[in-house]
Amino acid sequence: MTARVSGTEGYAEEADALVGQYESISFAEAHRHVLHLIPSAPCRVLDIGAGTGRDAAAFAAMGHAVVAVEPTAELRARAAALHPSPRIEWLDDGLPELARLAGQGGDFDVVMLTAVWMHLDEGQRRRAMPRVARLVRGGGVAVFSLRHGPVPPGRRMFDVSAEETAGLAAAAGLGLALRLDDRADTLGRPGVRWTRLAFSKATEAA
Ligand SMILES: C[S@@+](CC[C@H](N)C(=O)[O-])C[C@H]1O[C@@H](n2cnc3c(N)ncnc32)[C@H](O)[C@@H]1O
Repeated sequence: MTARVSGTEGYAEEADALVGQYESISFAEAHRHVLHLIPSAPCRVLDIGAGTGRDAAAFAAMGHAVVAVEPTAELRARAAALHPSPRIEWLDDGLPELARLAGQGGDFDVVMLTAVWMHLDEGQRRRAMPRVARLVRGGGVAVFSLRHGPVPPGRRMFDVSAEETAGLAAAAGLGLALRLDDRADTLGRPGVRWTRLAFSKATEAA
């Protein structure tokens, strides 16, 4: 049996309920504060912790080529069935290593980490950031959301600060492009607040 990727605790058991929940909001609602950072011309998007595929499907509909990484098999299967698209490649992989993407440095214009980073402990976040940064193309962006507040039963989650995330990103060559603190929860869950962060990678000198 394959070991469960740490951070995914609780997701397989709730996969059916989560489809209803995650698909009840639109990509535009979920990402209204960062939409201006997404290129309009077709580009390559990496969605890490893609869940039910809501965002992968929206990116594909915009004409982007998407690699959707989702380590929870129960979610990945539902997502692929819900959002069949030749523009989405589904990958069974996980942070911090992203081992299956190891050969693909600097390939993505947009790397999304929506509601996933706070599932990693401090050591895993330190290991993961340079790997994430390497996957961003020069001129590209990495977009994060960090959840704060009560941890749902059965989940593994840490309260991660914007300062720590920005510090790790800077050390990995990603500059802060956007920071929004204390954002409301789109799903209206009591006590849940969010930090939105986006980082850009400088275009390499010719
Ligand atoms: C809160 S859900 C968010 C799903 C989706 N991004 C969204 O916004 O609807 C978190 C997702 O991260 C995935 N996940 C948890 N730990 C992970 C890890 N170590 N690496 C990659 N994905 C992980 C879970 O399986 C789950 O699909």
